[in-house]
Amino acid sequence: VSPGSFSYLDNAATTPLHPEALAAMLPFLGDRFGNPSGVHAMARDARTALEEARDIVAACLGARPGEVVFTGGGTEADNLAITGVHARHGGSVMCVATEHHAVLHTCATLDGRVMPVRADGIVDLDALAAALDETATVVSVMLANNEVGTIQPLADVAEVVRRAAPNAVLHTDAVQAFPWLDVAQLAAPAHLVAVSAHKFGGPKGVGALVVREGVDVAPVIHGGGQERDRRSGTHNLAGIAGMAAAMQVTVARRDATVARVGALRDRLADGLMAAVPGTRETGDRNAKVAGNCHVRFEGVESEALLILLDEAGVCASAGSACTSGAIEPSHVLTAMGIDGADALTSVRLSLGPTTTDDDVDLALKVVPEAVARLRESD
Ligand SMILES: Cc1ncc(COP(=O)(O)O)c(C=O)c1O
Repeated sequence: VSPGSFSYLDNAATTPLHPEALAAMLPFLGDRFGNPSGVHAMARDARTALEEARDIVAACLGARPGEVVFTGGGTEADNLAITGVHARHGGSVMCVATEHHAVLHTCATLDGRVMPVRADGIVDLDALAAALDETATVVSVMLANNEVGTIQPLADVAEVVRRAAPNAVLHTDAVQAFPWLDVAQLAAPAHLVAVSAHKFGGPKGVGALVVREGVDVAPVIHGGGQERDRRSGTHNLAGIAGMAAAMQVTVARRDATVARVGALRDRLADGLMAAVPGTRETGDRNAKVAGNCHVRFEGVESEALLILLDEAGVCASAGSACTSGAIEPSHVLTAMGIDGADALTSVRLSLGPTTTDDDVDLALKVVPEAVARLRESD
């Protein structure tokens, strides 16, 4: 494949590296190769770069530098948040049915409870309040969903947790939120906040967990005691520097990106509904991130549709990247009350900062043709 010859509409799976992120990484893949844990000049240079990156990441997340723990991505950050608090305090853990598997499966290993959502994908606050008690130690509620883009009302969630489970900490998976939302502000009520660089123009395999002062997490990865003993392992300095640069770019341009890409998303979603009979949009467009277009084409199996789209140069997804390939209804759609057959007709077209008018034009040409072809062949 050559870039530019296709329409990449899978930004919720991963995003292209920002040029600024690549430029920030290169020195640490070259001459500045020191290990920040050492004492000599090369090590001190690396330590300085690490702490500069930490300052940037902290500022972009509304945290203090000492509250930032660098991890090997979003999955690890979610694991550290939930397992780390549970290992220290025991008790019961709870998450929402539409969480990413990084949270759902971690909760499952701790016999956690799973809270229902309403038909629009928003967590049922009454059910949450009723289920919580003083035994709860971790409650995990994502800020934005990876499949349908639903934004959770985190301030309301935090209020319920404070009242009903005073001993619990609130963890939020902000992995999909960061490209679109002011995480520093919206995640302020959470004690723990997970992000992943590759969702906002940074490199893969690096992320961060904000652990607010006073919150105690046991390490999940044991070793040399890096990250104030919260996450051992030699720092991925190139990755961390790339993440910090990508964060700066994302935050600086976020308002403009949301306005521009939100308009593209609206044109795409409205265009598909106008051009393809029997198209339904999933979730409430007013309560989802600007890059998410999630639609269901009645009677059209999404796996077959994705193959035709791929052949015609449109990269899309049938659900979260981690589950595409598995022909099972998405747990997110099932939790929203969408039945299995309907859920299997769903396609996620996720836009990003590099999405252009041409990308949307190609999708608006290709998708209706592909749906029509599949319906004819039935
Ligand atoms: C909401 C959410 N949480 C966690 C993750 C995992 O992040 P990573 O790919 O960095 O492990 C993803 C990635 O798909 C995600 O969308």
